[in-house]
Amino acid sequence: MRTLTLTRPDDWHIHLRDGDYLCQTVKDVARQFGRAIVMPNLSPPVSTVADAAAYRGRILDCVPSGDAFEPLMTLYLTPGTTIDDIAAASSADFVAGCKLYPAGATTNSDAGVSAITDLYPIFEAMQKGQLPLLIHGEVTDPTVDIFDREARFIDESLDPIRRQFPELKIVFEHITTREAVDYVRGQSPHLAATITAHHLLYDRTDMLGSGMKPILFCLPILKRDSHQRALIDAATSGDPSFFLGTDSAPHPRSKKENACGCAAGCYTAHAGIELYAEVFDAAGHLDRLEAFASHFGPDFYGMARNQSQITLVEEPWTAPQTLPFGNEQLMPLRGGEVIRWQMMQTPVAPS
Ligand code: NCD
Ligand code: ZN
Repeated sequence: MRTLTLTRPDDWHIHLRDGDYLCQTVKDVARQFGRAIVMPNLSPPVSTVADAAAYRGRILDCVPSGDAFEPLMTLYLTPGTTIDDIAAASSADFVAGCKLYPAGATTNSDAGVSAITDLYPIFEAMQKGQLPLLIHGEVTDPTVDIFDREARFIDESLDPIRRQFPELKIVFEHITTREAVDYVRGQSPHLAATITAHHLLYDRTDMLGSGMKPILFCLPILKRDSHQRALIDAATSGDPSFFLGTDSAPHPRSKKENACGCAAGCYTAHAGIELYAEVFDAAGHLDRLEAFASHFGPDFYGMARNQSQITLVEEPWTAPQTLPFGNEQLMPLRGGEVIRWQMMQTPVAPS
């Protein structure tokens, strides 16, 4: 039986939600990951350091005893974000960056920004304060085909931001296209991209080819298989510009399996690292999983790598079909199906 021991990984992009949902998501992420960058798209959004501090406290209250998990917080950029908000964020050590949502691009993005250039004074302050900018990179023009929205964003918004603010650290989140891979690859130590497990495992034919599968609907939407292959090549290449961000984004079953429109987001926190292990193994590059999952993220953000380790074992298991989610049900990715790798449980230290 093959095993793989690696530095404990971090998740550089996750949605934990709040309220009755929070302790379920925190339990899952804290089991595997040392740290996670927590997305701010609550309703209302986490847009100030005070909001982030309060949300962080609620997350920490949910961390199971025995798990050492550190939430890294983000602020949601809105048209009302001020230079003072950025100054406060730069000096708050628990805030890792600010998230740009083009208004209307995805779940809970209504509070986001329509005119990105209006934020240039904010980007200037972020560059000065060395605060990374995390971007949901899709244009929102409804006349642009949904499969083209990421590629269009590169030319229309991302490249102009990069030229104007070359020293600003930017993470192009959850990339899904060959164009994004080509844009990010080896360009600059200030530009990186996260890649999700589901975009590495699936393409649009998996989602639409044999009955529409709400469980695979997320944004940016799954693309054709040539893009999936470009993502796999990038993730497993050993290029430090690409690192792990699950974009695990839970929605109750009633909102996913809904004839009036399926909520966008895939839940992968129950098996985050195991799903990536499958991809790296299938690509013949299991030896490169550790760098992608545990080294390149902290290196980019200027943080220390985790000290502890986890061990994965090639022992197939069946993921639960449903998980509790407040008073509702959550359908995790691969629910009821076999996942080839699993993380060995370390005994919880007695308190
Ligand atoms: C995310 C969510 O549900 O919050 N949904 C998704 O499809 N990925 C938002 C996001 O990251 O786009
Ligand atoms: Zn996300």
